[in-house]
Amino acid sequence: MKAYLHLGKTMKTAEAAKFWEANAENWTRFVRAGYDVYRDALNTPAFLAMLPDVRGLSGVDIGCGEGAETRKLVRLGARMQAVDVAPTFIRHAKATETAAPLGILYQVANGMDLPFASGTFDFATAFMSLMDMLDHGVALKEAARVLKPGGFFQFSIIHPCFSPPHRRVLRDAQGKVSGIEVGRYFEPMNGQMNEWMFSTVPANERARTKPFRAPMFHRTLSSWVDLICGAGLSIEKFGEPTASNALADAQPVVADTLVAPLFLHIRARKLA
Ligand SMILES: C[S@@+](CC[C@H](N)C(=O)[O-])C[C@H]1O[C@@H](n2cnc3c(N)ncnc32)[C@H](O)[C@@H]1O
Repeated sequence: MKAYLHLGKTMKTAEAAKFWEANAENWTRFVRAGYDVYRDALNTPAFLAMLPDVRGLSGVDIGCGEGAETRKLVRLGARMQAVDVAPTFIRHAKATETAAPLGILYQVANGMDLPFASGTFDFATAFMSLMDMLDHGVALKEAARVLKPGGFFQFSIIHPCFSPPHRRVLRDAQGKVSGIEVGRYFEPMNGQMNEWMFSTVPANERARTKPFRAPMFHRTLSSWVDLICGAGLSIEKFGEPTASNALADAQPVVADTLVAPLFLHIRARKLA
């Protein structure tokens, strides 16, 4: 298995995958309980609003987790396959498929080494997973490879400009978000360990649950553009989801996106 540079040493996908596997059980429980408010209230609705019509198209969802976003693509009319590197996520996704079949084929696979022939799909998606892979350039090339010529790849990542290695949400005296402080933008992150938890997980759950842990990777925006173009993809749309005032009032967690985006959506097309 290919190894990637990680904190000056080499890290294999299998090592990174162990962290996601360790997160998968609680992650599934928490997202199904509705604690990923950014995803459900803001990020995925904006992603789907930017998505071209997928009715009748065949697609692959890369880094699908427990499959919630893949199922949304089927409900929009696509025929879907989906992969994730963590077996526990795929087990939960398959169990949901068995209980309420939508025709989705899930399998454990590495986004940097997809188990599909070149030119298989009309489109590919990756919801907040591409930036977690050890080599973004390889992952982009793999997504491009499995697309038919003219097919598109739409993916969401943490916004490289507004969530670089240093980010702090600034608030005024009333607690209202007034700005975002960012720093260390030009410092690449190659797998430094990050620990976090969905902020709406109730205190009693939080007390008995270990935080999520996974290696983090940061690239500048221009590096992302170079990698996308280097994969033979042509950028056709960017999206930067922002909460409406009404959404920020109803879900204060997402109020930081009133002043600057936390996520970046990119759609790119394989040259025909
Ligand atoms: C932040 S979660 C997003 C999950 C899901 N797409 C969603 O939006 O809820 C990142 C996902 O990427 C997966 N992942 C990380 N590295 C991967 C790789 N090399 N190949 C495939 N999936 C990977 C993780 O297991 C995890 O499910």
